[in-house]
Amino acid sequence: MGTWHMGESERNRAREVAALSLGLDLGMTLIDTAEMYGDGGAERVSGEAIAGRREQVFVVSKVYPHNAGAKSAIAACKRSLARLGTDYLDCYLLHWRGRIPLEETVHAFTQLARDGLIRSWGVSNFDVDDMEELFDVPGGAACAVNQVLYNLSERAADWKLLEWCRARGVALMAYSPVGQGDLLRHRALTRIAQALGRTSAQVALAWLLRHDDVIAIPQSSDPAHVRDNRAAADVVLDAPALAALDAAFPPPRQPTTISVI
Ligand SMILES: NC(=O)c1ccc[n+]([C@@H]2O[C@H](COP(=O)([O-])OP(=O)(O)OC[C@H]3O[C@@H](n4cnc5c(N)ncnc54)[C@H](OP(=O)(O)O)[C@@H]3O)[C@@H](O)[C@H]2O)c1
Repeated sequence: MGTWHMGESERNRAREVAALSLGLDLGMTLIDTAEMYGDGGAERVSGEAIAGRREQVFVVSKVYPHNAGAKSAIAACKRSLARLGTDYLDCYLLHWRGRIPLEETVHAFTQLARDGLIRSWGVSNFDVDDMEELFDVPGGAACAVNQVLYNLSERAADWKLLEWCRARGVALMAYSPVGQGDLLRHRALTRIAQALGRTSAQVALAWLLRHDDVIAIPQSSDPAHVRDNRAAADVVLDAPALAALDAAFPPPRQPTTISVI
């Protein structure tokens, strides 16, 4: 479950915590947050949702590029842990590439892992050329995940990135997996979903989840939508459904770089 835009207003806090808690009750095991979201507010909301059930949840947070230095990343991680009310992150990501050399960030992540503050680390918004640079840095090949924009209408990762990551055991975490809601109003998707007796969100998410090494992190504060998103994990798309989706949302046919939201 994603958490962008959560923790921005006290008025919505109880509803957001309830939505995340419901998702956990239903077996959605991962929460993705960031120090950026709600200026720490989303981490606090996530902390409330995981309180008393920390071991059931895979918690991911992200460091701002300007905080990703050898020492600053360690301090930022400790602030995130305090807001989340936990003593470790399951995965810590560099939110996007900034000016700080990757060597410094990898060094900090390696130290955080050695000290038990994080169990794994990764990156976000990295295309193939960035990943190649990362893997050339000492310790860089320990990267566990790359979180990028990936959904039916944003298929740039299908050009090379997904394959590149797969060949190296790096999981792809698909952000904005329902296109921030807009994708769900796409007529072709609605038609295909209706024919399958499913919702558009279930089909959009099942399309991502058909890969064992792709993680989808839909964000919702609406309990009906949370249930809808959870149901996607039980949907198996057959070959004709996948062909219909490819026809409506064609994969890239020429070199394409990933977009960033
Ligand atoms: N690394 C990065 O740079 C980056 C960038 C963007 C996002 N992310 C992460 O990825 C997460 C997901 O991406 P996102 O929040 O941009 O977009 P998203 O999950 O694709 O879409 C979220 C929007 O879709 C609606 N929605 C969700 N499920 C629905 C359903 N079943 N039916 C109808 N509407 C539904 C939500 O509204 P309701 O609340 O009304 O359900 C919300 O407005 C973020 O929360 C964040 O954790 C990371």
